[in-house]
This record gives sequence, C-alpha cells and structure tokens, in this order.
Amino acid sequence: MIRKLFSSTAGIPETATVPRHVAVIMDGNGRWAKKRLLPRVAGHQQGVERVRDVIQACIEQGVEYLTLFAFSSENWRRPKEEVSKLMELFVMALEREVDKMHKNGIRLRVVGDLAQFSPQLQELIRAGEVKTAGNERLVLTIAANYGGRWDILNAMNRWLAANPDATTVDEAALAEHLSMAHAPEPDLFIRTGGEQRISNFLIWQLAYTELYFTDTLWPDFGAESLAQAIVWYQKRERRFGRTSEQLVEH
Ligand code: IPE
Ligand code: IPE
Ligand code: MG
Repeated sequence: MIRKLFSSTAGIPETATVPRHVAVIMDGNGRWAKKRLLPRVAGHQQGVERVRDVIQACIEQGVEYLTLFAFSSENWRRPKEEVSKLMELFVMALEREVDKMHKNGIRLRVVGDLAQFSPQLQELIRAGEVKTAGNERLVLTIAANYGGRWDILNAMNRWLAANPDATTVDEAALAEHLSMAHAPEPDLFIRTGGEQRISNFLIWQLAYTELYFTDTLWPDFGAESLAQAIVWYQKRERRFGRTSEQLVEH
C-alpha cells in the first residue's frame, strides 16, 4: 500500500468514488446511555461494539484508512471515574481485539501523547502495532490522548530537534513529523452525536476533507450509517480551490 501520500495544498490529490481515508469523531456515547437511564460507561461499552462493526463495514466498502478519535487531550478534564473506565475499556479492547485484527489483515496504529498512559496500556499499544505492522488490508489508526494542536507543536519540536540551525520550515518537512504521516489526508470526516465542531481533532489534516455531521449517536452508528455517509460523500464536488468548470474540462 506504499503510494505517494499527496498533500491537498501542495497539489491536487487523486480522489476516488470510495473515500480512501475516513476519520471519525465517535461522539454521543454519554447521551446514548443517559437516554436509557444507564451509566455513561454503558454508552462507551456499546461504542466499542460499534467500532468493530464500522471496521468491518470499511473493509467491505474498500476504505483503506480508518482513523477513530477515542480520547482527546481535553478528555482528561472528565470525572476521574469516567477517565479510568475509559482507560480500562481501552486495555480490554486491545487485549481482546488485536489477534482478531491481525487475522483480518488490519494494521493498528495509535497516535497521540501516549506517555501519559499506564505502562500496561503503552505496552499493549506497542505490541499491537508491532504484531500488525505487516498488514495492508486496512490501516486502523486510533487517536488517543490526541489533540490537533499537540500534533502540530510536537511535529515542530521534532523538526527543530533534527534541524537545530534552521530558521524556517516548509510544509513537506513539517508534515513528515505529524502523527498521521503514514496516511493520506482524510477524504471523509464523520462526527456522530449532532455537534458540528472539530474538537481539536486532525486540524492540520482536515484542510480539504469533506465534513459530514449526523445526529446519530455513536452507539447507534453501524454499517448502514457508514454507507449513507459514503453516498453523501459521493455527491460532493471536491474542487481543491478550482472552479466547477475546470473539473469538467479534466
Ligand atoms: C464520545 O462520547 C466518547 C469520548 C469522548 C471518549 P461522549 O462521552 O462524549 O458522549 P456525549 O457527548 O457525552 O454524549
Ligand atoms: C470529542 O468528543 C472527542 C472524542 C470523541 C474522543 P467530546 O465529547 O470530547 O467533544 P466536545 O467536548 O463535545 O467538543
Ligand atoms: Mg461528547
């Protein structure tokens, strides 16, 4: 799957009928649980089940990269008990799912500031990434303790460390150090749960991504919902700054 990963601002990326890269803010777990008079964690548990379905649906649709926002750099602000439940769920999901992912040809990547996680979780992440490193059917990236601003600053700091005498940086050089350097820019962004905001997700990488917002809560989002989002995507005209007429000429 090694292909040129093209920047939407440095050039015009190739586009296809099926989005090559789908990035999702899985929002609405808490409200899903509240509606059922259940604790918020029940919504998160149900959310993990949907992750499985959506991974499978992406494979069936021919999506090559799926990126899921699991925990933001701002989610530490939640009550301690909820944060620790989310960490437990992350550990359990990795323990349960990595072998299955490997059998299904899925490559796992985790992006974010992982140093703040427990040593056990960090080790599970590392082992999962190593085990699945050779897989090419779908690249699944989990954004955990991830923030778009952190990503850009981290890339800048890494670049500065490698180029201590430089005074300016260009887009390509910086992009190499961003945490999503292994993937093309997302074609389709999906946010469930009804909010229409980015919440510090992939702020650099979403420059020309098509943005799809749905009121469906994440624990209710499945293969059919993904298919609807892809149909919506297929109706968009991706101009990358050009005019409609120029697209017809092509
Ligand atoms: C998204 O669902 C999951 C995480 C942020 C971890 P929420 O927990 O934000 O659900 P709502 O937005 O409160 O319904
Ligand atoms: C965004 O959802 C983060 C994840 C889904 C992991 P939030 O629920 O944290 O976003 P805000 O606070 O409503 O913007
Ligand atoms: Mg939320």
